[in-house]
Amino acid sequence: MSRHPTHETSRPAPRRIAFVNEKGGSAKTTLVASLAAHLSLNRGHRVLALDMDPQGHLGKVLGVDPRACKRSSVDLLLDEVLDEDSLDGARVDLPTQPSRIPGLDVIVASKALALAPGIESDEMVDPTGSLRRHLDASQTLPSYDFLLIDSAPSFGALTLNVLRGVDELVIPVPLTYLALDGCAELLRTVHTVRTRFANPRLRISMVIPTFYRRTRLAHEVLDRLKERFPKELAHTALGYHVKIDEAQSRGLSIFEYAPKDRAARALAALAEELELRRPGTEPNETAHTAHVPETS
Ligand SMILES: Nc1ncnc2c1ncn2[C@@H]1O[C@H](COP(=O)(O)OP(=O)(O)OP(=O)(O)O)[C@@H](O)[C@H]1O
Ligand SMILES: [Mg+2]
Repeated sequence: MSRHPTHETSRPAPRRIAFVNEKGGSAKTTLVASLAAHLSLNRGHRVLALDMDPQGHLGKVLGVDPRACKRSSVDLLLDEVLDEDSLDGARVDLPTQPSRIPGLDVIVASKALALAPGIESDEMVDPTGSLRRHLDASQTLPSYDFLLIDSAPSFGALTLNVLRGVDELVIPVPLTYLALDGCAELLRTVHTVRTRFANPRLRISMVIPTFYRRTRLAHEVLDRLKERFPKELAHTALGYHVKIDEAQSRGLSIFEYAPKDRAARALAALAEELELRRPGTEPNETAHTAHVPETS
């Protein structure tokens, strides 16, 4: 079952899941933070949330100030760190910070992340494989059950690092007409990463409709998503909930800020669906109707 090097025989390797969509504002960061919070706080998992977006929002919404952290995810793109640690025989460690939630650690991002792939490209043999090399060499990663990665709204060297470093993708899709174009582009990119960048096991575990509203257009887009992703489409669509913004402005997860709100119920359902959709299990093949929560 374990498909990555692990230094503890008793524990399966963590699932490595990236939340990707080059469309900005599709709820990537919100979903990573919320699903990570539910899986650790309410489901007892050990979760590492990794921010690979130079905007650095993931730490903030989880209550970890990126400016107060000495190390950040840029270290995962610098092979010198790996080489020195390996040569010293030291533990190759990840730059994690504990969050307020027990069982949930965070690796924050800084602006430097945007420049890292370009700076390194002259000297490195395979710059877009750097994240995978770091994760594979890490001795701390196997102590987690889930690695959830937040990615930037663009497809450059940074996102390619992410796509090469994980086995699973979650794609949040805002229910707007143009969002479908982005999906087609993303599928082409996934195919390229599988075939040309030696990550054949990369799979889409879940497609999550976001910003659902009871409009005809939203339902049309949802129908198109069902056609295109019959197995992958999540059973819950995430509506528009003002409590989500409020919780984030306080650096709290929705489960701490408003655990009884409909937003918390929808996000918990999505986290638990992701738990079930592990590689090796076939997503439900029967045509299903996405369960769409009532929106306020
Ligand atoms: N379901 C929701 N209801 C209300 N507001 C939401 C919801 N999901 C996300 N938001 C808000 O929408 C904004 C964009 O969400 P988020 O930052 O999660 O998207 P993103 O895909 O990570 O954006 P980017 O591509 O810029 O990284 C944020 O202000 C967030 O608080
Ligand atoms: Mg984001």
